[in-house]
Parts: sequence; structure tokens; C-alpha cells
Amino acid sequence: MPVTKKQLSGKRVVFGVGGSIAAYKAILLLRRLTDLGADVEVVMTTSACEFITPLTFQTLSGHPVHTNTFNPDDNMAHLRLAENADLILVSPATANLIGRFAQGMADDLLSTIILASHAPLLVVPAMDGGMWQHPLVQQNVKTLRETGVEILDPEFGSLASGHIGWGRFPSEEAIMSSIISLLTMPGDYHDEVVLITAGPTHEAIDPVRYIANRSSGKMGYALAQAAQKRGAQMVLVTGPTSLTPPPGIHTISVTTAEEMRDAVHKHFERATVVIMAAAVADYRPDQPAKTKLKKQGREQVSLALSPTPDILTSLSAQKSGQFMVGFAAETEHLIEEATRKLKAKGLDMIVANDVTKPGAGFGSDTNAAVVLDAHGLVADLPLMPKREMATKLLDLIRIRLNQQK
Ligand code: CTP
Repeated sequence: MPVTKKQLSGKRVVFGVGGSIAAYKAILLLRRLTDLGADVEVVMTTSACEFITPLTFQTLSGHPVHTNTFNPDDNMAHLRLAENADLILVSPATANLIGRFAQGMADDLLSTIILASHAPLLVVPAMDGGMWQHPLVQQNVKTLRETGVEILDPEFGSLASGHIGWGRFPSEEAIMSSIISLLTMPGDYHDEVVLITAGPTHEAIDPVRYIANRSSGKMGYALAQAAQKRGAQMVLVTGPTSLTPPPGIHTISVTTAEEMRDAVHKHFERATVVIMAAAVADYRPDQPAKTKLKKQGREQVSLALSPTPDILTSLSAQKSGQFMVGFAAETEHLIEEATRKLKAKGLDMIVANDVTKPGAGFGSDTNAAVVLDAHGLVADLPLMPKREMATKLLDLIRIRLNQQK
């Protein structure tokens, strides 16, 4: 009988199990993974061993279970596992594990492997709803997400504590679907050099004051991380944001529109895709004061402003096959304004969002947008997390790139 290749054949998963009652669900996940052909090595934390024995995982995975950094028979396990993994899954992940990962600690085998690896990391939290909602846990989750870690949100339902609320371990189907999508992520940007801008620019008024806008940079960072995961060679040019530079991405920090223009032009020639998600200031103070401006009584003051360079327009003039995508954040006449900018700036595609809509404004973790090209509406993307929108936008760009070939 011919042997049929299973969906996850050849995929190597490091499966970290944390100390939660949901550890028993890890057994079912392990079974599903091996049934699909994945080669899984299990790493248990000390607390996980309080809930379940390593022997169970050893029997199901067909590999010895790793529980100790200092194993004389396998003292390089952390490096071997880190380098060979196609995915690191941590399920269940306790609040303690999430906190230690977010702090970059390497005080046990699992956290050491995570720091030593470049593989995608999927974390499935399991804790009581009150703990999940604690601001410190949420801060740690945010930190991890900003560095590209996938974290599944707990679901609503009955909890081990007897309470009903948020904190329920996600369903096996939801976890498996995330695992499969991470392990089978298309490497469809391998041949692309993607140049992305993100965040606002700051234009100095004097040494302590500046003109800026409300852009957080989240959309541009999400796009950069998504393109990197799909194999792109990435250059991220970022204005001032509170986000952590994504690991492994060539990130150039700039402050002003002129600095952003210079950085973008420097990398434009070798780029194949340019996505200008930055909210570039249109004007800058004519003559920034060298010393702090002093209050001049009660009379009105006015600030003379000069236009900044329009980066996209200057890039279009030098275009040599780059696929160019702009963004338009509008408060009215969304389609008309986006269509005008698409033509005026010589773009291949524009992503337009109405920033007055709840959840689609600056700083939010979600976005809703319409995508247009020279032929009109390409897609109407409803409210969704920016990470998801990044994937959808890259899918749309990929389709156009394929059509150009
Ligand atoms: N943009 C740019 N250079 C600028 C201003 C904007 O390259 N000096 C880019 C933005 O990164 C975005 C697109 O142009 O991709 C549209 O930006 P937006 O601010 O909406 O357009 P403006 O041309 O500035 O028009 P307005 O402010 O009048 O809406």
C-alpha cells in the first residue's frame, strides 16, 4: 500500500508543558500532532511534573521527555531542540511562564530553549480569569505579542475554580488550527525584499517640543512581522513608537519626515515591495528654535510651517518595478480621498481606514479598512486584530505580485 504523506510529516515541534490542571489536555494535543506526522519532543517544567508524569508524554511522543537543563547525558539539549524546531508550542502556559518569557529569563530548560530559538512560538495560556485579566499579565502578553509571539486568547466558559468567566483553555480545534497554520505558513515572500514604514514622525518646534500625530506604529510592525514569517527579507523604517523592535528584522529608527525619506530612499532600489504605513507629518516648523521658546505673556503666537517631502511621490518618480502600497487614514470621504491619493502618489494599492470608527483608530490593536487599486475596490476588510489584517494585506499583495510575473 502506498504510504500517504501526512499533513505535518517532517515538521519538528518542541512541546513545552507548564504546570496547570490543563496539562492533561496536552496529552490529547500531543496525540493529534503525532497522528498528523509531526515529530514532537516534550519539555516539561518542574510544576508540570506535579500534574502529570513524563512517562505519559514519553510513551506518546516516542522520545525521552526533557525536564532538566543539566542532564549529563544530553547537556546540549537546549541548543539542539532550539535549532531544530519548526515550532515551539507552550501549552498550557501559566501566568508565571508568560511572565518569565516576557522578561527574557532563561532559568529552566523551556525558557532557555525559547531564548535560543528562532522558531515561531505559540503560547496557549491557562489560568483563572482574574489572573488573565491582571494588568501585569496583560502587559507581559503585550510584550510577547510585540516581539512576534503568537498567543491564543482564553475563551469564556466554566473554569476549574468553579467560576464562569474568561480564562477557559481554548478548544483543541482552535489550538490545532493555529499550530497547523504556523507550521504550514507559506514561504511565499522568500523572493521579496519588503520595505515597510511605521509610526509617526516628530517635527521639532524647539529642543523640548514637537509636532506629531497619534500613530502607534502597530499596523506597520504587524506587517513587518507577518512578512518576515513568510520569508521576506525585511527593512523596517520606524518613527518614534513605544513598540519593541521586532527581533531579526533590520529596523532603522528615524524621527523626522526628512530622516524617514532618506532611510527609505537608501533601501528603495533593492526593495521589491514598499508599504508606507507610517503617518508622516505633512508640515514641519520652518526654523526649529535652538533654545526653548519662552512664554510671551497672553498674546497669540503663530508657528510658520513648511511642507515636508512627500516620500511616496518621490519614490514613485524613481520606481523600477517595486510594488507600492500606501495607507490613508481619513475622517470623511474615505473612498474618494483614497482614490485620489492612489493616483497622485503613483501607487499600486492603497489601504484606507476611517479613523472615526470604533476600533479602527490610531493606537488600537484592531483595524477595519478598504483596499483599493486602479480598478477600484479590491477588498473590504471588517474589524479584526491588526496581526490578522497584516496577513490579509500580504495575501492581497501576493496575488498582485503573482499576476505581474
Ligand atoms: N506619505 C508620504 N509622505 C508624506 C505624507 C504621507 O509618503 N509626507 C504617505 C503615507 O505614509 C501614506 C500616504 O502617503 O502611505 C497617505 O498619507 P496621508 O497622510 O493620508 O496623505 P497626505 O498626502 O498627507 O494627505 P492629507 O494629509 O491631506 O490627507
